[in-house]
Amino acid sequence: MTLVRSERRGAVALVTLDRPDALNALDRALLHDLEGCIAAVASDPTVRALVVTGAGRAFAAGADIEQMRGMTPAEAEGFSRLGHRVFGALEALPVPSIAAVNGYALGGGCELACACDWIYASAKARFGQPEVNLGIIPGFGGTSRLARRVGLARAKEMVLGGAPMSAEEALRVGLVNRVFPPEELIEGALAIGETIAAKGPLAVAAAKRVMQEGQDVDPRVAHTLEQHAFGLVFSTEDRAEGMSAFLEKRDPVFKGR
Ligand code: CAA
Repeated sequence: MTLVRSERRGAVALVTLDRPDALNALDRALLHDLEGCIAAVASDPTVRALVVTGAGRAFAAGADIEQMRGMTPAEAEGFSRLGHRVFGALEALPVPSIAAVNGYALGGGCELACACDWIYASAKARFGQPEVNLGIIPGFGGTSRLARRVGLARAKEMVLGGAPMSAEEALRVGLVNRVFPPEELIEGALAIGETIAAKGPLAVAAAKRVMQEGQDVDPRVAHTLEQHAFGLVFSTEDRAEGMSAFLEKRDPVFKGR
């Protein structure tokens, strides 16, 4: 039985965490299934964007507390490593990933959303890092990725205080890009995926990579990365097509070459 469903909606892959009875709690099996879906997206050049969401009333209510209860420190570290491997693969995808947060995004669920390129939320969504309520800390990136989204002080307030946050508040602090009425969330996320699918995929991938890698290095190195990538996209057929189409006043047809 798979705990993560993957389907195609045009050029967009829609991946749904599908363990609703446990509010899509992230156990090892679900993380392995998610890893398989991410690898399938990475190896399929016809997929141009990914939307991640959850079945039922949660996006994901965190790492599986029942599974974690019996873990030794070494097992817990391995579990954290597994989560980081999977979320790292998600973050490194060449296509944009959008978290469509339909309900609870707590602990590992909030961390999963932060591993996507950006977050769209249902008005019913709730975000939080409640790990300290369990006597533990975030283990799937919450001590690092969250701070990049909302700033260090706000992230500390969330991680050290453990209180949940509404979708509106998440929008206000920049954790979420847009809030949708619940019934419009998935279509809204798929629509931006389709919009991006019409762009040059090599340019989209290059821009994403440079923006991601540029965050981790000295600004001068980031500027050099951008200059190299800017030159590289000029070697593509898509660049010639995009510029010709503009000058000939027609829509471009990008081929990913
Ligand atoms: N792990 C395992 N099971 C979970 C779970 C989790 N994180 N969250 C919810 N569930 C299960 C519940 O045990 C319950 O199962 P049963 O029906 O078998 O009893 C089912 O999902 C429904 O949950 P509730 O009955 O609790 O639903 P509710 O509406 O009353 O409350 C909630 C919803 C506020 C989200 C509550 O479920 C909750 O607080 N969940 C835990 C949230 C949490 O602490 N997350 C952080 C986990 S630690 C982590 O994520 C570490 C990391 O960074 C790697």
